[in-house]
Amino acid sequence: MSVHHKNGRSLCLLGCGGFIGSHLVERLLQTTDYHLIGIDISSAKIQPFLEHERFEFSCLDVHESGLVSNAIARADTVVSLVALCNPAQYNSIPLKVIDIDYIRSLQVVQMCARMDKRLIQFSSCEVYGKTLSSFLPPDSPLRDDPAYYLLKEDESPLLLGPVNAQRWSYAASKQLLERSVYAYGFEQNLDYTIIRPFNFIGPRMDYIPGIDGDGTPRVLACFMDALLNGKPLKLVDGGQNRRCFTFIDDAIDAIVRILERPRECRGQIFNIGNPQNEVSIAQLAGRMIEIYQQITADKGDIVVEDVSGVDFYGSGYQDSDRRVPDISKAQKLLDWCPQIDLAAALRKTVDYYVRAYGREEH
Ligand code: UGA
Repeated sequence: MSVHHKNGRSLCLLGCGGFIGSHLVERLLQTTDYHLIGIDISSAKIQPFLEHERFEFSCLDVHESGLVSNAIARADTVVSLVALCNPAQYNSIPLKVIDIDYIRSLQVVQMCARMDKRLIQFSSCEVYGKTLSSFLPPDSPLRDDPAYYLLKEDESPLLLGPVNAQRWSYAASKQLLERSVYAYGFEQNLDYTIIRPFNFIGPRMDYIPGIDGDGTPRVLACFMDALLNGKPLKLVDGGQNRRCFTFIDDAIDAIVRILERPRECRGQIFNIGNPQNEVSIAQLAGRMIEIYQQITADKGDIVVEDVSGVDFYGSGYQDSDRRVPDISKAQKLLDWCPQIDLAAALRKTVDYYVRAYGREEH
């Protein structure tokens, strides 16, 4: 059944108050006529949009399944963004990670199947785990062969470590969630699309510890915390792992296209990332220091130090060595190609953090 609000189509956004959710709300209010039914446990990142006439926000936990079910019933399409997604949580609170990222999220999938709603499920590039190339000898020329490192939605294996390496509690939860979504599509005709984000960055990402959150955020915010507060930038195991950082505006372009192309996207999994923006974490530290010094005219010494993964994250730490997305499916079905290169993405992001958290403003 299609639910029509007086202003047009209706969308339920679960987890609308997070980094991705806040940007999606902003864009959808600016450029579409959707009526948005948003749910999150926090509204700090969406304050400017709360009064908008097409945005209806409820401060709720996904545990409150009765209330979430009512919101889903009133929408045409559901976008499920709820997740615990910081690696520091995977070893330290794995039960909560499994609860939120699999058990509670599965309940949303079941509600969508039962109520015949279109579901856009956010997953993660983390489901790929390690690359095939990481199993080759260090000097093997095949390590540079895309057949061994390029990640393809419908072909690449999903390679996780053993159970005692709790790092993979999140990846395993997301993988089983994807498999459940797929099975609901297969057995009960659920209309779904799965999105695998590749290291989105931009304004409002994560938090600065001690200011608007606690614990260890993802690498971008860790490095900004170090830069803003005169602490060393820490390179886990030498910062040799590589990531493709994707600017949030490019990512939101892809997500809106997925929303607008239900027929082409039905039953599809999409890598959403920028394969041109690959860097090692050590290189990322260097680029961020350079940009930070340009923006702030800070000429002081900035220290970078090595730390072991186990010292930084605790036991049970392992990591993905490399994550380069094949985006040919998104290019073809969405007519989408990321536009923002790494230099511009980092500059916009660092600039935001300096303005939002810099000493002058406090
Ligand atoms: C995380 C999540 O696990 C994924 O769910 C999510 O999709 C992904 O971020 C994302 O942002 O898309 P990961 O890339 O491993 O995955 O997370 P980060 O915390 O950003 O770490 C990136 C790399 O930097 C890791 O190798 C980590 O060990 C390293 N790191 C992190 C440092 O060297 N120093 C730090 O201070 C923090």
